Amino acid sequence: MNLADTELVMGILQNKGYSLTNEITEANVILLNTCSIRDNAEQRIYGRLGNLKKYKEGKQSAVIGILGCMAERLRKNLIEDKKMVDLVVGPDEYRRLPEFLDGAFAGEKGIGVKLSRTETYDDIIPFREEGLSAWLSVMRGCDKFCTYCVVPFTRGRERSRSLESIIPEIKLLSERGFKDVTLLGQNVNSYNDNGKDFADLLAACAAVDRDIRFRFSTSHPQDMSDKLLYTIAENDNLCNYIHLPVQSGSNRILELMNRTYTIEHYYELIDKARKIIPGVSFSTDIISGFSTETYEDHIATLDVMMKVRYDGAYMFKYSPREGTKAFNMEDDIDEETKSKRLSEIIDLQQKISFEINQEMIGNVEKILIEGDSKKSNEFLAGRTDTNKIVIIPKLHGIKIGDYLKVKINRATSGTLFGDLI
Ligand code: 5AD
Ligand code: SF4
Repeated sequence: MNLADTELVMGILQNKGYSLTNEITEANVILLNTCSIRDNAEQRIYGRLGNLKKYKEGKQSAVIGILGCMAERLRKNLIEDKKMVDLVVGPDEYRRLPEFLDGAFAGEKGIGVKLSRTETYDDIIPFREEGLSAWLSVMRGCDKFCTYCVVPFTRGRERSRSLESIIPEIKLLSERGFKDVTLLGQNVNSYNDNGKDFADLLAACAAVDRDIRFRFSTSHPQDMSDKLLYTIAENDNLCNYIHLPVQSGSNRILELMNRTYTIEHYYELIDKARKIIPGVSFSTDIISGFSTETYEDHIATLDVMMKVRYDGAYMFKYSPREGTKAFNMEDDIDEETKSKRLSEIIDLQQKISFEINQEMIGNVEKILIEGDSKKSNEFLAGRTDTNKIVIIPKLHGIKIGDYLKVKINRATSGTLFGDLI
């Protein structure tokens, strides 16, 4: 989401004549797009700010600004505490950035942290480097109010972009040769443009260019409709891959988190999706050590992982966020227990990913060639429909952006290896 927002900000600034530099020593403006989801994300920014001091001092005298969720959460404190910060601009005020920058060059500090019920940046084309993969934001904000989560406070209420503005952007991506587009939103399943839902949007996107693969993130289990599952099944270029955060396997914890589903409901959804979309794969998010989490609750989470067998998972230690409902509950799971439980979760996922990948040996997969493998330029890296990286030997005539059929012959927990067939 932040990468997509950064491209949006670059689009806005480019329209005003700014250009990008890869040399920080030449920059007149340095903007950090920040995340508040967990405390360690914020701590990293404080570290970065310390390192940027030298570009502010002396001849370069760069304007330094904080964008994104930290701007929203900490507001003028950031300017007061960190004297070197000139701008603090939250996620719904990026249109005003050029104006704030003009002010900053004249020595004024700027704060823009109003949240909007309508801003979707519908008319702004983000700045995207050439490539195969693009992010495309289709809705902003979140109304779910999970008790641990700061997003509804830092990114505001849910609102959707119009379908009429999204389709031309997809056409543009198609003309530029993009092949892999991820539709983004905090909860894409509640997309709603005057009655057109997320399934309608996906079907319309898929029809623009059948050579582009579409993925989406993130889905809330409560809003996954049957219509959406059938739409994925019916369109070859809608990837058979669903990121479906479960957060915990314990109904008691799910209720404390205000996730609004039970684990039984979650299983029903997974079963239904597997029936409607044969071969669909899932990834998830898991929080370990939420307030009052017992050993039994933790075991229940491991149990879900074993039952669902996710292809991948993003796994986190619970981090209390000021202003959220859970902030008032006790953060009673000590750091050591949180760490131990998290490593058990990570180890189990590693084992499951390894097993799933081993079972893929012998399969034929259609992969999209993305470029050289990270480790060697004698090999190419491609991606399956289900978002797995496949390494194949580089053969003359294969181009980036080609779809190729490969047979999988070896696998680790993170990577598949194959040969062209
Ligand atoms: N602590 C830990 N993880 C969190 N997430 C959201 N808020 C917190 C928090 N306070 C995780 C959830 C969410 C993902 C984007 O980040 O798992 O799905
Ligand atoms: Fe946060 Fe829950 Fe909204 Fe996801 S659905 S952004 S976890 S409040």
